[in-house]
Amino acid sequence: MERIVQQIRRLTIDEYIKYLTQQYHFALHIESIMRLAAETYIKNQYTFGEDIPNFLMHHAQDEAGHHIWAYNDLNKLGATPIGPYNLATSELLDKLIIVAQGSFPWGVLGLSEIVENFAPTIEIEDIVPQEAIDINADTFIRRHIKVDVRHAKEINDCIKTFSEGKKMHFPYYRQIFTQLYQTFLENSIQ
Ligand SMILES: [Fe+2]
Repeated sequence: MERIVQQIRRLTIDEYIKYLTQQYHFALHIESIMRLAAETYIKNQYTFGEDIPNFLMHHAQDEAGHHIWAYNDLNKLGATPIGPYNLATSELLDKLIIVAQGSFPWGVLGLSEIVENFAPTIEIEDIVPQEAIDINADTFIRRHIKVDVRHAKEINDCIKTFSEGKKMHFPYYRQIFTQLYQTFLENSIQ
């Protein structure tokens, strides 16, 4: 998290288009990944006395359609059709899908924790080039900064309710998803 924040700088238009392109691909899939994790969780009957599948479903719903924000921003920048996936984007999504279907599907919350706590720490001018702000091609980031204040609180509250076993395993998922997300961000602007 600290490493991610330290590396923030204002992007050039070219980098910003690349960044939004990878965010588009990420946002397109994250809803179904959250649902998949919730379904695996319910299927494995992990639900007793826990609110994790509800949180995952509710969160999936909240993230639905956000790729359209990125698409519209790209459109305003004259950057459609959407470019291809980076390898790092595929790697992040692949790992999320594996975890969502695996024995510890709540591990995907390791990624949620990073993403949701990250967005509210940035200012729009820290990242988005002025030319993009001037034509309102900053909706994806601007809306996330706002909505993720609530998401950050929700995910942090959810993690606090983890049983001892989950608390023990969670640092592992936090660590792998921090690394994958960091690599995803770094590669997204190259
Ligand atoms: Fe969010």
